[in-house]
Amino acid sequence: MSIMIAVAGKGGVGKTTCSSLLLRALLASRIRPLLAVDADPNANLHLLLGFTAPRGLGSIREELLDSSVGAASKGEHLEALVQQRVLEGDDVDLIAMGRGEGPGCYCFVNDLLRRSLSRLAGGYAAVVVDNEAGMEHLSRRNLRKIDHLVLVADPSPRGVSAARAIRDLSVELSLKVEKTWLLLNRPYAAGDAAEAPSLPIPLLAAIPHDPSLAKWESAARSFLDLPEESPAAREMARAASILLAGNPR
Ligand SMILES: Nc1ncnc2c1ncn2[C@@H]1O[C@H](COP(=O)(O)OP(=O)(O)OP(=O)(O)O)[C@@H](O)[C@H]1O
Ligand SMILES: [Mg+2]
Repeated sequence: MSIMIAVAGKGGVGKTTCSSLLLRALLASRIRPLLAVDADPNANLHLLLGFTAPRGLGSIREELLDSSVGAASKGEHLEALVQQRVLEGDDVDLIAMGRGEGPGCYCFVNDLLRRSLSRLAGGYAAVVVDNEAGMEHLSRRNLRKIDHLVLVADPSPRGVSAARAIRDLSVELSLKVEKTWLLLNRPYAAGDAAEAPSLPIPLLAAIPHDPSLAKWESAARSFLDLPEESPAAREMARAASILLAGNPR
């Protein structure tokens, strides 16, 4: 069974950064192969993982509705289309969700898509989903079950309340979430982390501001190759070991 980790939070808090750091940390713990899912319609996770721009899954819906394939074989056809869009790396593969659907009726196709995604996910040791800001994919139940919902928040009141809102929504929708965590990113003053326990969400880690990340990104180097000296990578390694402790292989 693969470990499903969904990363969510307010816009710009560091979801994509933390997703990449988490993938790196999982690899360092010898968890492989991994699937990175870019669930942001403005796909950009590939830029931090050393991939070219992926073709999103969104357009598959239209292709499938238009195709002359009969309903009975649509499932198989879809599986092939999904597989074609997986970008393969050494230990990490990448797939992007792409844009949402147009005005047509997509329930049938969406259901098939959900199923083939979870079949695809089953082939990996762990899956990390980098969500767009907000709750679109979560509320559409595009992920069947989530082992770890990691809510990234900066220590600002708005960052923290967005994390709380997503947690509340996941409860309201009765999403199948095993465990929800708060991941503080860039706590700017000592003592910020002390604020976290007042939230009813356990604190996974506090990722420090790490100036090496911007340099790495400008040089178009994959975050998977960040050295152990990177303070953000080091703290994420600790976070990953906490997540993995709940999921013995
Ligand atoms: N711990 C950190 N140290 C240094 N820089 C960081 C850190 N976390 C995030 N950043 C920087 O902050 C910016 C926003 O980060 P990122 O793109 O990961 O946020 P996001 O939540 O994915 O944004 P969006 O909502 O647009 O998807 C980036 O320039 C990133 O390099
Ligand atoms: Mg992002």
